[in-house]
Amino acid sequence: MPATEAEAGPAPAVVDAAPTPDTSAWPAGFLWGVSTSAYQIEGGARDDGRGPGIWDTYVRQRGRIANGDTGDVACDHYHRHREDIALMRELGVGAYRFSVAWPRVLPRGRGATNAAGLDFYDRLIDDLLAAGIEPWLCLYHWDLPQALQDLGGWEARDSAGWFADYAALVARRYGDRVKHIATFNEPGVFTLFGFVLDWQAPGIRDRAAYLRAMHHVNLAHGAAVDVLRDLVPGARIGAIHNRQPCVPLGDQDADRAAARMLDACWNRAFPDVQIDAAYPAELAAAIEPYQQAGDLARICRPLDWFGLNHYSPIYARADATAPLGFAWCDAPATVPRTAIGWGIDPESFRDTLLDVHRRYRLPIYVTENGTGDILPVDARGEVADHDRIAFLRGYVAAMGEALAGGADVRGYFVWSLLDNFEWGAGYSQRFGLVHVDYATQRRIPKASARWYAGLIRGSAR
Ligand code: FCB
Repeated sequence: MPATEAEAGPAPAVVDAAPTPDTSAWPAGFLWGVSTSAYQIEGGARDDGRGPGIWDTYVRQRGRIANGDTGDVACDHYHRHREDIALMRELGVGAYRFSVAWPRVLPRGRGATNAAGLDFYDRLIDDLLAAGIEPWLCLYHWDLPQALQDLGGWEARDSAGWFADYAALVARRYGDRVKHIATFNEPGVFTLFGFVLDWQAPGIRDRAAYLRAMHHVNLAHGAAVDVLRDLVPGARIGAIHNRQPCVPLGDQDADRAAARMLDACWNRAFPDVQIDAAYPAELAAAIEPYQQAGDLARICRPLDWFGLNHYSPIYARADATAPLGFAWCDAPATVPRTAIGWGIDPESFRDTLLDVHRRYRLPIYVTENGTGDILPVDARGEVADHDRIAFLRGYVAAMGEALAGGADVRGYFVWSLLDNFEWGAGYSQRFGLVHVDYATQRRIPKASARWYAGLIRGSAR
């Protein structure tokens, strides 16, 4: 993703005076949570038999990650999950969304399992439940085992079967205790960034590879849903999609077409097929060669909820030389932006919630929302992240407007519990409610953690 501090310009003025949104009219039982993902926090990359994943490979390629950072240690959550659960208890969250690292439980992606890796998630799940926090498990947050990448990864149609077998392992092992399970985190993002724009693992820039991966990830989703439904009694199965308005920069027809193509790839290529058995018109012809008879029915399996990750609008303009005809653009300087250059636009969040509700007709859980900054610990040993508080307050209020407008929103998870490894930006961007000092692994709850705890307490009914 773009946006260094220099590109981002000055941070917006602190708007800390607004009242915390009144949630008294919200549905009873509204779920408040926090989200993380395995590669971004676990560390322990070589511990206890974990195999290499595509991110272990990618971070070692020169120039890929800011400062040459890696997830080798990250937040050392693999060894400190109890401390992190204690932080969640202080927040008062009802749920914790995490991902299982496929290479930790199946070091070569399939075949022999890794007992120590499987034990780790047993401990995590049991300790969460003991703390009264519901585990929400995501099967895939971008860390494909390298051994499977070597066999073609998502470009291979066999990947659907590999993923279904992995899902079966997870379901058999944890399905007695974990009921909320997501197949993929943001397939629209990792396929575009990993196979076309070359900003993420596996670091490919090839339109045909992208289309193959798109279809196979969709097939893998459908296959995993069937397995989870069979093996987990009472399962509540969903998929998690990043969804943002795609805004054309420039006023030519070609710019509008470019933004529509970005919208098709980013917002619709996965949920439209998974929920309504149709590829977006912009992609239908291109994807045709990779489909076999019956595939749409294999992909479109009944789901229980829609996981929405939302941050801010994204921008495109026409570029005839680009593989999909659009150039990805930074937010224009006229848009209010966060310290890392992402647009601040709570109204878009409200509209996206209403749009997802109308289009897909599923209960919505906001599985990620939050903001990144670069704030250090201050002289008093605190992190006064008032811009994060203002951001969250505005977005929670917008969610209230969507609820009032009829959107069936059932829960909200802040990204993220901890500062963590932010993909290409490495450790240079901090998204946590809790600050992590990477040299000492000391955790310091930020001002926003206290604000969020207060919001949750105030909403308890
Ligand atoms: C989302 C990713 C998550 C994190 C946030 C900031 O797209 O799912 O891992 O990087 O953005």
